[in-house]
Amino acid sequence: MIARIGIVTISDRASRGDYEDRGGPAIREYLSEVLTSDWEPVARVIPDEQPLVEQTLRELVDDQGCSLVITTGGTGPAARDITPEATEAVCEKMMPGFGELMRKVSLEKVPTAILSRQTAGIRGKALLLNLPGQPKAIAECLDAVFPAIPYCIDLLEGPYLTTNEDRIQAFRPKRK
Ligand code: MTE
Repeated sequence: MIARIGIVTISDRASRGDYEDRGGPAIREYLSEVLTSDWEPVARVIPDEQPLVEQTLRELVDDQGCSLVITTGGTGPAARDITPEATEAVCEKMMPGFGELMRKVSLEKVPTAILSRQTAGIRGKALLLNLPGQPKAIAECLDAVFPAIPYCIDLLEGPYLTTNEDRIQAFRPKRK
């Protein structure tokens, strides 16, 4: 089974074309470097409108069959930052450890990391993961959490993800 991975840039300005989307391509490049198993991206660039973000997340999981959906942007405190709310609205289960770990490692880089409300959760058989909008935050955050992602997808009965071990070592606990 080929893994489909949703890549969602949530930004009013990138979706209007005020600036070029750098977050989505950075996620795609990261995955190309790290994943050695077959995968294909399903990319979207949308404004910070909560109903549209929820609809896009649902579409990527339910219709496009993505087993992992990674968002960038909209996690801060500003009025239009609604990515965590949209994520929570479409998930059956939240996975708070992802946000906790990403904030911890980001805090070693920038004091404003505590301004990110980034979270993660499960919808159906998919893991949804928020990253901050800052393109350089993408590798910093994914490096921290990626070792646990293949096993999380295993537990959701998704495709078996393998990684370039020089870059990221996927951890799979031994079955008792
Ligand atoms: N995390 C990392 N690793 N690097 C960063 O530069 N920026 C922070 C934070 N997390 C940042 C980071 C800032 S300034 C904000 S406001 C929040 O992410 C939310 O960003 P977003 O609203 O673009 O998602």
